[in-house]
Amino acid sequence: MGIVYHEGSKIFQIHTKNTTYMMGVYAGIHLQHLYYGKNLTDPDCAYLFPQQETPGALHGMKRGGVDFFGTMPFEYPAFGTGDFRGTALTVRSIGGHRACSLAYEGYRIMEGKPELPGLPATFGDKAQTLELCLRDAVLGLKVLLRYSVFDDSDAILRSTTVVNEGPERVYLETALSACIDMPNEDYDVTTLHGTWARERNMQKRPVTHGKLTVDSVAGRTGHENHPFMMLTSPGATQKQGDVYGINLVYSGNFLARTELDHLENLRLTIGVNPEGFEWPLDPGERFDTPEAVLVYSSEGIGPMTRTFHDLYRNHLIRSPYLYRERPILINNWEATYFDFNEEKLVDIAREAKAAGIEMLVMDDGWFGHRNNDESSLGDWFANPEKLPGGLSRLAERLREEGMQLGIWLEPEMVSPDSELYRAHPDWAIQVPGREITMSRHQYVLDLTRQEVRDYIFDSIAAILQSAKISYIKWDMNRSLTDIGSADLDPEHMGQFYHRYVLGLYSLQERLVRQFPELLLENCTGGGGRFDPGMLYYSPQIWTSDNMDPIQRLLIQEGTALVYPLSTMGAHVCVAKNHCNGRVTPLHTRAHVAMAGTFGYELDITKMSPEERAQCAQFNAKHHQYSHINREGDYYRIASARENGVYDCWQVVGKDRKEFLLTYVQVRYESRPRRLQLRLEGLEAKALYRLSGTEQVYSGDALMKAGYPMNMLWGDNNSVLLHFEMLPNETGKGSKICK
Ligand code: GLA
Repeated sequence: MGIVYHEGSKIFQIHTKNTTYMMGVYAGIHLQHLYYGKNLTDPDCAYLFPQQETPGALHGMKRGGVDFFGTMPFEYPAFGTGDFRGTALTVRSIGGHRACSLAYEGYRIMEGKPELPGLPATFGDKAQTLELCLRDAVLGLKVLLRYSVFDDSDAILRSTTVVNEGPERVYLETALSACIDMPNEDYDVTTLHGTWARERNMQKRPVTHGKLTVDSVAGRTGHENHPFMMLTSPGATQKQGDVYGINLVYSGNFLARTELDHLENLRLTIGVNPEGFEWPLDPGERFDTPEAVLVYSSEGIGPMTRTFHDLYRNHLIRSPYLYRERPILINNWEATYFDFNEEKLVDIAREAKAAGIEMLVMDDGWFGHRNNDESSLGDWFANPEKLPGGLSRLAERLREEGMQLGIWLEPEMVSPDSELYRAHPDWAIQVPGREITMSRHQYVLDLTRQEVRDYIFDSIAAILQSAKISYIKWDMNRSLTDIGSADLDPEHMGQFYHRYVLGLYSLQERLVRQFPELLLENCTGGGGRFDPGMLYYSPQIWTSDNMDPIQRLLIQEGTALVYPLSTMGAHVCVAKNHCNGRVTPLHTRAHVAMAGTFGYELDITKMSPEERAQCAQFNAKHHQYSHINREGDYYRIASARENGVYDCWQVVGKDRKEFLLTYVQVRYESRPRRLQLRLEGLEAKALYRLSGTEQVYSGDALMKAGYPMNMLWGDNNSVLLHFEMLPNETGKGSKICK
């Protein structure tokens, strides 16, 4: 494990427990990518350097730089000197020329991992970092490539810093975080795509010639695409095959791309989207890219997923709630929409408390004079008609009922019909002389400006100081358009999108530092900004406005491919779902929501006593078992997306002493089959008892022969099972199967 430099061969090797990443300096100048894959210890890998001339060049004819630059596997390719593939760096000089060629200059290996100024990034003490220095001598540009590893993870963390050490301003037109060139192995690429109420559905297709890009230009990561790509070798499954995952710790415009070139070289790149981006860099200034996370698994998709989960839990999410039991909440949005008042909320809270729910979240519509989505964003003070005693009396009354209070905010926005907008019309993002493109009757505040950020922060701080509020749902319900800031001159307007994201990060940083006990849940019109960047500030993110458990199977499968279950906001909705009208049994809605942070989004006062009693049982069960989901290892056993009939996942405690198995049957078949669900991650020699029964199974048999699941009656049915390892006769350790 660790980072090694082989002076003789000029090769750098980055080892994690199971993987190796390798690059080398070719001809004393060019930093070339040599290998990323299964752990490899041979120090003498000089034969991996590609030849200067590609095979097939005519005898004796040297085709020069263009052929070389156009085919070599560059670690950080630059535009303008012969690499015609998608490059990682495009620089325009003050004279308007776009040519850059990076030569290797030196390296250093550091203990620990440096922070990325202003950006969220993974952190941890037991880390090592390799920093490689490249330079374009003509521009005077220094490029630092950083690679970090933690001692307990198979992930490799990359970021890039560009420093202008020349005498003149340069303009960065593209500055991506990472690039990996590798030989084509007929990979498939899986991305996460969707829309509102259908986020992060997995889509797999072959990598073919040309470029395949997923990106965002909406100022946020978005519902549509996701800053993640997964390459899988032909036939790869959860348990076998080569798998490469790449993810960007960023919440704004991004680009992720595969490119298969004419010589069957595959290039994978990820970073801030160059579209709409231009960063002037004056002498002495630096630009830091967001962090890219690379994970390779030689044993299928499952290990890749679990590496991401552990990395994000152990090295990215800082909230004290990460491993803490979170309150079961009830949110009033789908229960009342804008039509509520203090009495109605207290009624809901009272019934909720009786069923074992612990927090009421008052959603949109409690402030200004907001009774629909046409006004008051920015006016963060209680609506006197709905809350005559203000937030403090509501919080007090809820406290008397034994309930905590959480509230909804949309801090980045302003309604044209608001006191804030009337006082500061220039605080909205806009292009002078052009009507702002409207979306949901609201404009976006210019977070690049310090005074705007201060107003937002002071408003939130005042609310939190005025009443006992335990939780904030930070929403963001529209994309960015009409990009312009009164604070940026024309030369710097191309910095806007990235500066907006930096402004958002600095605001949330202030909030979590000043109110460390606040439980923050990010949200973006459902799950439109569910990314590792936001997880640095909030331990949970609202996954989707769609709570229909059947649609959620797809959404949560795609989300959990990368992100820990403990980060997925998931609630029980009413039977006729508000997004698609589907009617499902209450227990199925609960079982699917229990895979995430768990709560309710319905009017509990309208439920029957039997239903409320059922909710009380779910709540008790959730508290009994939620630690397994928060801390354990996630295994995807089957996917309804693939088989059309049933979905199944398993979460095993880190000590393997207990596990949860969730089976959701989307379609009933007459003359049903009996399924043998092959489980994973168990102690082969241990015996496990199905809780609530005397039925005992050996770990070995559960993993090899499978758990016999009789199909359930009807569509959209489900079970959630808990198994516990039997103690051995001494009461210590596990009972061994003979
Ligand atoms: C967004 C959120 C919802 C709800 C509404 C309120 O759509 O995703 O959960 O808070 O806003 O307007």
